[in-house]
Amino acid sequence: MNKPDLCVARNREKVNIKYINLDLDIKPVFKGKKYFLRTYGCQMNVHDSEEIKYYLEKLGCIKTEILEEADVVVLNTCAIRENAKDKVFGYLGRCKHLKKEKKDLIICLCGCLTEQPSEIEEIIKKHSYIDIVIGTHNINELPKLILNANKKQQIEVYSNSDTVFENVKYSRDSKISAWINVAYGCDKFCTYCIVPFTRGRERSRKIEEILKEVQDLKEKGYQEITLLGQNVNAYGNDLNLGYDFSTLLEEVAKIGIPRIRFVTSHPWNFTNKMIDIIAKYDNIMPYIHLPIQSGSDKILKKMNRKYTIEEYKELFNKIKEKVKNVSITTDIIVGFPNETEEDFEQTLDIVNYCKFDGAYTFIFSPRVGTAAALMEDKVSIKEKEERLQQLNTLVNKYSLENNKKYIDKIVPVLITGESDKNNKICGYTETMKLVNVEGNKELIGKIVDVKITDAKSFSLDGIAI
Ligand code: SAH
Ligand code: SF4
Ligand code: F3S
Repeated sequence: MNKPDLCVARNREKVNIKYINLDLDIKPVFKGKKYFLRTYGCQMNVHDSEEIKYYLEKLGCIKTEILEEADVVVLNTCAIRENAKDKVFGYLGRCKHLKKEKKDLIICLCGCLTEQPSEIEEIIKKHSYIDIVIGTHNINELPKLILNANKKQQIEVYSNSDTVFENVKYSRDSKISAWINVAYGCDKFCTYCIVPFTRGRERSRKIEEILKEVQDLKEKGYQEITLLGQNVNAYGNDLNLGYDFSTLLEEVAKIGIPRIRFVTSHPWNFTNKMIDIIAKYDNIMPYIHLPIQSGSDKILKKMNRKYTIEEYKELFNKIKEKVKNVSITTDIIVGFPNETEEDFEQTLDIVNYCKFDGAYTFIFSPRVGTAAALMEDKVSIKEKEERLQQLNTLVNKYSLENNKKYIDKIVPVLITGESDKNNKICGYTETMKLVNVEGNKELIGKIVDVKITDAKSFSLDGIAI
């Protein structure tokens, strides 16, 4: 086993990135077999699953939503918080039973959990029936491993990577909206976060390859693309080619796909030029996810976030001022080790100041191998849960207030599918608000004007006009 080594990962040095053009020849030797795929975690994993789907389908497998029907089970895991892990174990339990009845069943574990040495050792020990464990850096080896399955347990996990694969193929979930990786990994090492360990060092794709992919998606009729990176706006910094994320954003905008989005932006890498480009192009959506994590400078420092609250406010105000009708959402962690009542009050203060359109809120979850997991923490879980509740109440109040401003307005909505509610269709405003729309299903895939009739904390209601 190529064991991930957190120390190696932490001390990694900048090396030259190797670009490899993938050219896999996958034969449909599994024709008629069924696959079951579950994805946990962030958009990065969702997009990785589209690559996994491509390989499974090339092998000839068709998708099933029923685990018991499957010949191949793939669990694409996340390691960001403890509860992400618990969900995977539920499925593994069911797989164990199934494997007893179905000896040929192939069970494959991939995603970020496989990149945590302590976790994966425990999993392999307890679940010896798992056929394949594959890391985040070599998903393209999956077809090869599947073909060798049932001979012996195969574990192919690398702790780090200096490689960027180009010409990766995907079986995309949507024909309307597509993800595009622009950079892999993260070099920020926020002290609470496992991602730099599970995804390796920051590696940007070549600009010409990204633009080629955007052009191709445009020709296929895609209405929306989302540029992906753990720190999307650090794009290019590792290349030293004299361009950065704002250059990429502008080049992508010029191609002319109707809607362009990007996640996730780190405040520290948000340049003035980026703000100007977002403001300049109508097809760059006025929606920015800008994680703040805490309202306390003391905690931000302990988190290694590289900005102060004053700096965040300054950036926030600049974006609000320059980008018309922009909506800004954020991520907040409560209960970071030894977060005091005063620190938490400062988090409430910044929420009151920014009045975010939305916020993903989390209780700090210690991750083995990260610096924060070793920090002393005297705050009880009960206290942390109370803080989370209090924060959520405030966050939801502002989401609702912001959403109410849309009532009676007519806004363009990209209709992405059917809503689970009352036979409606649904889609997103430019500002990334979910709208349940009264309208014809033929509107799916189109950008239509919608009159907003009602607003809730997490969605809007409207009528297509
Ligand atoms: N690269 C992105 C997203 C990282 S993960 C970024 O930097 O913003 C998404 C969110 O999960 C983070 O923004 C953070 O709020 C939260 N998170 C990460 N590690 C966590 C941990 N150990 N405990 C609780 N929340 C965590
Ligand atoms: Fe994690 Fe920080 Fe990197 Fe985001 S910037 S992925 S929170 S280490
Ligand atoms: Fe989870 Fe890995 Fe994403 S840890 S949040 S799936 S980068």
